[in-house]
Amino acid sequence: MKKTIIAILALLIGAFGCTEEPEEPIFSVEKAKEALDFGVIQYQHKMNATPPGKVPVTFKDDTVRYSDIYWWVSGFYPGSLWYLFEYTGNEIFKNEAHKRTMFLEPLKDHRATHDLGFMLYCSFGNGLRLTGNDEYKQILLTGAESLASRYNPVVEAIKSWDWSDEWQFPVIIDNMMNLEFLMWAAEASGNENFENIAMNHSYTSKNNFYRDDYSSYHVIDFDTLTGNVINKFTHQGYSDESAWARGQSWGLYGFTMMFRESGEEYFLNLAMNIADFLLDHPNLPEDKIPYWDYDAPDIPDTYRDASAGAIMASALLELSTFVEDAKSEKYFNAAEIILANLSSENYMANEGENGNFILKHSVGFLPADSEVDVPLSYADYYFIEALHRYINIK
Ligand code: GLY
Repeated sequence: MKKTIIAILALLIGAFGCTEEPEEPIFSVEKAKEALDFGVIQYQHKMNATPPGKVPVTFKDDTVRYSDIYWWVSGFYPGSLWYLFEYTGNEIFKNEAHKRTMFLEPLKDHRATHDLGFMLYCSFGNGLRLTGNDEYKQILLTGAESLASRYNPVVEAIKSWDWSDEWQFPVIIDNMMNLEFLMWAAEASGNENFENIAMNHSYTSKNNFYRDDYSSYHVIDFDTLTGNVINKFTHQGYSDESAWARGQSWGLYGFTMMFRESGEEYFLNLAMNIADFLLDHPNLPEDKIPYWDYDAPDIPDTYRDASAGAIMASALLELSTFVEDAKSEKYFNAAEIILANLSSENYMANEGENGNFILKHSVGFLPADSEVDVPLSYADYYFIEALHRYINIK
């Protein structure tokens, strides 16, 4: 009798599949570590191959392209080195990160761009976070003054570009990314002006950049006498009314970060609406790596932008920690899918190839036929950051 009951139980268990192997998760801490381990190897090659005084940007026609320190991406290479030092604890990364970071010191007095957050906070900011080096702190505080000098109290925003007389006061959605630097500076210096500027810039952006469907314009030109909007348009996207992919990711990341820094619920609600717009978009492919513009007319026969995917994954991971239940799960699962795909051979380079960058297939500026379907230093930076965030959350 006993044997018969055991046999029946065994049959039932078999029939309902309880003995089947559990499905392998799409992504995991082990896989995140494998991806970071590959980043470590690839960036060891990169450190050996990068001449002193050069800032790696991209790789095209079998050649690594470099810039000087004044190009907006200059903080990403040192920033990636800092993250890899954090991951490995390896002094080689720390020394190289320090060298490449200090090389950017003149930027602290550079008042001709809004990109100082990218340039200084990704480099010196990560360095300060990991080492507490006071020299970094002083450089950052001077740099924050330079960034704040671009604020206009009538427009209540920081001016993005100076390089054309065509516009009075151009502001781009990307500029949200520079505000974390000012929020840090307010805390570190006790000067509330930095925080006021960051908050006002965020409100101005929230109120003007977003369409009813929560897609974002790329550029807005403001009137400096009235603060009114003169024109809304694109520079790097497909059209003035389209949703340029990286701009959408910058906005998502920027408002998520500003909610973290300020606790302002308007920013959280906007970040959720942006995330839902992107994740529910009919043109977001199954692997969730966006095309370079959500409204590109030749989808699906056009380029993906891995940088937009990496920035989005990093933002979604943080956003998932600020919300609950189904929303949290939606954002976290989407980030996992993005990271799983970026870690696959579809996007990840082979060792020693791709100019020693980690990710392939990003788009810098397609309408100018510049940096199309190439690696980009910021795609790597936000991918590495997202992998860190993933491991920390898990
Ligand atoms: N901030 C410039 C870009 O995203 O291309």
